[in-house]
Amino acid sequence: MAMVERVFSGVQPTGNLHLGNYLGAFVNFVKLQETHNCIYCVVDMHAITQGVDVWGGPAELTRCTREVTAAFIASGVDPKKHIVFNQSQVTGHAELAWIFNCVARMGWLNRMTQFKDKAGKDREAASVGLYDYPVLMAADILVYRATHVPVGEDQKQHLELSRDIAQKFNNDFADSIRGHGFNDGLFFPLPEPVITGPATRVMSLRDGTKKMSKSDSSDNSRINLTDDAETIAAKIRKAKTDPEPLPSEEKGLEGRPEADNLVGIYAGLSGLSKAQVLAEFGGGQFSNFKNALVELCVTKLAPIASEMKRLVANPDHVDSILIDGAERAEAIATETMKAAKDIVGFIRKR
Ligand code: TYM
Repeated sequence: MAMVERVFSGVQPTGNLHLGNYLGAFVNFVKLQETHNCIYCVVDMHAITQGVDVWGGPAELTRCTREVTAAFIASGVDPKKHIVFNQSQVTGHAELAWIFNCVARMGWLNRMTQFKDKAGKDREAASVGLYDYPVLMAADILVYRATHVPVGEDQKQHLELSRDIAQKFNNDFADSIRGHGFNDGLFFPLPEPVITGPATRVMSLRDGTKKMSKSDSSDNSRINLTDDAETIAAKIRKAKTDPEPLPSEEKGLEGRPEADNLVGIYAGLSGLSKAQVLAEFGGGQFSNFKNALVELCVTKLAPIASEMKRLVANPDHVDSILIDGAERAEAIATETMKAAKDIVGFIRKR
């Protein structure tokens, strides 16, 4: 098995896909398709790590899994040239996660800020799955021996953990890895985060210091991928700003989180840099800039929303995409798992 450059990323099917998901992840998913073999996964096993009241129960999980699949495709992911599937169909994810549970260290997981945020004050009541979430994430990536992982800024710490796990596995089993023909001693690659573009951390429209998030109780804090033109316009017009006009240079955005966020969103959607956006709008009033932002958002997002609607209206078609993708994903994962089991010393069917 030669080490090939391969892209893997995942998105949770837990309701309300938003502009942060689109700019932080989907836009890069689509770009990387031109240069890499890509695997994009709807991580339904990650989705059930919080209470059932949070993820909404079986029917909601199924609905959201189809919706995220539709969002991938509507954003430009090509499920024929690349692979789109849902995680639970490929058993290698859970199998490798177990091996990694025995490689990762409690101290490493104790540092994960997302667990602390999600578990809140009552950590004793959090599920074991929520605590173990980043280990499953490492398995998602490494069961395909993926080398590049496009994500938003918030996933950076998890990606560092994936690298630590890959490295410790390679060290712990170094002799066995060489003994099984991996002469460079590198069975797992150290996956690189791809966190690029002007909008790697899109912030809430109501508070520029808080991340735009699916779980924010205020719907006005985010633009959902399913919002219609009127809703998008209303949310952007209500978005928090400050009384100053827009600066002409990027430096002028320092200490102005709301202005910085809106300029970043415009840049992300238009493919311009923040500097270019400010060259056009700097010195002007927010109201003019907001009008232009509404127009841009609607132009970019309305076709995605309508394509998502069309796709989810045909669940059998969406399911057939996921089943086809899972078959191709499984072929890759099975090869990794055979080698990983041999390296660990597990006896297996031949
Ligand atoms: P999830 O489902 O929370 O988010 C999906 C992707 O959207 C990005 N994102 C954002 N980017 C910019 N600004 C924001 N406000 C914003 N909110 C979300 C996320 O960074 C992510 O790229 N743990 C992952 C799912 C996962 C995964 C993986 C990712 C499971 N296994 C393996 C990569 C590789 C998550 O919860 O993403």
